[in-house]
Amino acid sequence: MPGRARIGRVRPDSIEDYVAEGGFDGLKKALEMTPAQIVEVVTKSGLRGRGGAGFPAGIKWQTVLDTGPDQKYIVCNADEGDSGTFSDRMLMEGDPLTLIEGMIIAGLAVGADKGFIYLRSEYPLALEVLEKALAIARVSRWLGKDIQDSGNAFDIEIRIGGGSYVCGEETALLESLEGKRGQVRAKPPLPAISGLWGQPTVVNNVVTLASVPGILAQGPEKYQEYGVGRSRGSLAFQLAGNVKRGGLVEVPFGLTLRQLIEDFGGGTASGRPLRAVQVGGPLGAYFPDSLLDTPLDYEAFVEAGGLLGHGGVVVFDDTVDMAEQAKFAFEFCAIESCGKCTPCRIGSVRGAEVIARIQANEDREANLALIDDLCEVMEAGSLCAMGGLTPLPVKSALRYFSDDFGMSSDAAKNKAPG
Ligand SMILES: Cc1cc2nc3c(=O)[nH]c(=O)nc-3n(C[C@H](O)[C@H](O)[C@H](O)COP(=O)(O)O)c2cc1C
Ligand code: SF4
Repeated sequence: MPGRARIGRVRPDSIEDYVAEGGFDGLKKALEMTPAQIVEVVTKSGLRGRGGAGFPAGIKWQTVLDTGPDQKYIVCNADEGDSGTFSDRMLMEGDPLTLIEGMIIAGLAVGADKGFIYLRSEYPLALEVLEKALAIARVSRWLGKDIQDSGNAFDIEIRIGGGSYVCGEETALLESLEGKRGQVRAKPPLPAISGLWGQPTVVNNVVTLASVPGILAQGPEKYQEYGVGRSRGSLAFQLAGNVKRGGLVEVPFGLTLRQLIEDFGGGTASGRPLRAVQVGGPLGAYFPDSLLDTPLDYEAFVEAGGLLGHGGVVVFDDTVDMAEQAKFAFEFCAIESCGKCTPCRIGSVRGAEVIARIQANEDREANLALIDDLCEVMEAGSLCAMGGLTPLPVKSALRYFSDDFGMSSDAAKNKAPG
């Protein structure tokens, strides 16, 4: 896709390289447009959030534009906590000016003059590169009080993350940005209405914001040409785990998971048969071989009982123990839970204990029924997707890999994922 194609070809700290490769073309167009026109272009492109939930960016921006006339903020979510993901990092390290340009355009679109990049602490190189890029953008007056004599102001600060997975959840992130403990806020109000310090705030992922300059420069129709259904454009998938050729593969939506793993990834690194694939980070479902022909498309994945999330793809061969993976899902939730609600805080601990009992063959049927109940409570009673989606990997492991739990396959069939 336009924009990301610059990675590896430009020096990340060179405005000259950036401009020579089409940099700031989108922003130049945006400077000639009204805020409503910019939002309309983003809406028309069909761009959806790349952080995980796939929410349409244009609708979020429209809400912030319509809320005001307060101080507004653009917050870039660069916490990138999903297992096996690194697309945000590669973009920030390789082409940071695209992200900066995307944030300035977002500011023009909604009437915000201040942006924050919430960057995970484990990305020191991204921090160094971003700081340099911000400095040169200021010197060349693409950032600051009067961007290119347009009368528009915008500046960006970097804040380092609190080192917790849940700080990537947008409201916990805002709490952390405000200097508080990273605990999830109840919604409503949405951050678009009452976000950072109670002001209307756009929170978008790195890749979402970095997609915007290309959309403005080339037009929403061009972007719409890529993808399928309501999943427009491309996604930078990250192939990791037991895969021969791991790395970043940017493809339009619509390819199948099998094509991604076999054609691009070359199958398992061990050469053993593939057994399971987890897509969408630690809260994503485990797909067996029979689901590998699912198209990489937000809706198709939900229909198959999974989620695309941030495009992380972790491959496992036939040596994986899926009961261990299910237990790990609960353990991960127990460690990372912000502790605000009981189903997640306590349920995750109890879930790991119950899986351990199933593994030890203690009262298997009763404990399997308990897991079902627990998953239902977590799905229905958790305040955010951390507790609400932890049952997804657990239930998919139970359904598709029943042997590892000592279950008959008939019993497993009743365990619908999602
Ligand atoms: C537990 C949890 C962790 C999350 N971590 C991230 C993250 O690391 N990066 C990210 O962009 N979004 C993350 N999200 C999604 C954000 O809450 C939010 O949807 C996103 O920042 C919105 O931007 P987008 O619309 O551009 O995707 C997480 C959500 C949850 C529930
Ligand atoms: S589901 Fe978990 S992470 Fe989310 S608010 Fe509740 S306790 Fe916090």
